[in-house]
Amino acid sequence: MADIYHRPDLARELAERLLRPGPLDVGLRSGLFLAGQRRTGKTTFLRQDFIPALENLGAVVVYVDLWTDLTTDPSKLVVDAVRRALHDMESPASGLARRLHAVRNVNLDVFGVKFEFDVEKVGTAEGATLAEAFSAAVRRSGTDVVLIVDEVQHALSSETGQRMLFELKAARDAVNKTPDMPGHFLFVGTGSHRAKVAELTARRQQAFDGAVSANYPVLGRDYVAHVLDDIRPHAIAAGKGLPDTEATFQAFEQLGHRPEELIKALRALLIQGPPAEEMNRTLEIIASALRSAAADLELERVAGLGRLAAAIFDKIATAGDSTKGIFTSAAAEQYSTLVGREVKIEEIQPVVLALQDANLIMRQQHGVYSVADPFVQKAWLERREMEMLGAMPGDRSPDARS
Ligand SMILES: Nc1ncnc2c1ncn2[C@@H]1O[C@H](COP(=O)(O)OP(=O)(O)O)[C@@H](O)[C@H]1O
Ligand SMILES: [Mg+2]
Repeated sequence: MADIYHRPDLARELAERLLRPGPLDVGLRSGLFLAGQRRTGKTTFLRQDFIPALENLGAVVVYVDLWTDLTTDPSKLVVDAVRRALHDMESPASGLARRLHAVRNVNLDVFGVKFEFDVEKVGTAEGATLAEAFSAAVRRSGTDVVLIVDEVQHALSSETGQRMLFELKAARDAVNKTPDMPGHFLFVGTGSHRAKVAELTARRQQAFDGAVSANYPVLGRDYVAHVLDDIRPHAIAAGKGLPDTEATFQAFEQLGHRPEELIKALRALLIQGPPAEEMNRTLEIIASALRSAAADLELERVAGLGRLAAAIFDKIATAGDSTKGIFTSAAAEQYSTLVGREVKIEEIQPVVLALQDANLIMRQQHGVYSVADPFVQKAWLERREMEMLGAMPGDRSPDARS
């Protein structure tokens, strides 16, 4: 059950659009940002399919995952990855040099020459800038250089990280606006924090203003069919049946397109081993139980931020796709009723920020907000219906305790 389901066609198509954009895709030259929920396979897709596809098209890929090491400054992680790639370009024996030789027939001799700058000092005050480093990398490799930063929103959490994003933009402009360059600099960022990923490309003051922001393509029916094929021999050996593809796909959707959750549900199903005609229905029940356990955790996060947070979240969740007017005096009055005490307008902003920080709501435009995860919104509305408006979740909030 543990093997990877590959999506080479999707990867090749995306790689081609990035490296050879048609007239409709020129925005990709400014950067590509893919947003998707955690545990849906973003990193797996990048590493297993997308990077190989880019490399097959002759590009050099520098990959860094800011999620793997949350204690190190994001900018250091990126600079380290850039230095490693530059080192590889100084060695004819490196895998990178040999691959470029094989794919693009680049003369191996060029890799035996040191760069004009000290690779170890790239990104430091006295060393080469990222713009100089990427320009040199594109010239030496004679091809496109793609920097992929996985979970890029972590760069927003520190000042050095934010500065780095601007340096990367400068690097992009330095390479892409110089006429005689043999390749482009391309930036790909992914993130689980949809609100923040969208912000990176939308806000005018952000580094990647104008870049393309898209949803990560989640795994689909073909993946589900593959998983079923994989476990079929085991099920047969154990004398058990399996649910059909459609029912399994619906369970997968219920579980937020998370492979691990699907495997968990199927495992539980096989252990339970209902009669063949009950398979689909039992899987549905298992998936819905798993889902509701996950939703509970999310709703508790809202409650954990206090009763005012719950009241604001409720206003946004019940408004449909998006809402404005969450800072008005009318809104404050609404919150007061729900919280059970007078809420002042100036109390609202910090709580909205806390909700944003927790990835529970997102700002769509100035003053316009929506729930970050439709799955959580749906769970909230269901819960709300059950509790008939009256009892707000949040009884364990600081307000309630005082
Ligand atoms: N294409 C795939 N085939 C099989 N399992 C996958 C696939 N993509 C992801 N998974 C599994 O799902 C889990 C989460 O994947 P990961 O790539 O870490 O997600 P993300 O980066 O979106 O948080 C991992 O256990 C991974 O092995
Ligand atoms: Mg990941």
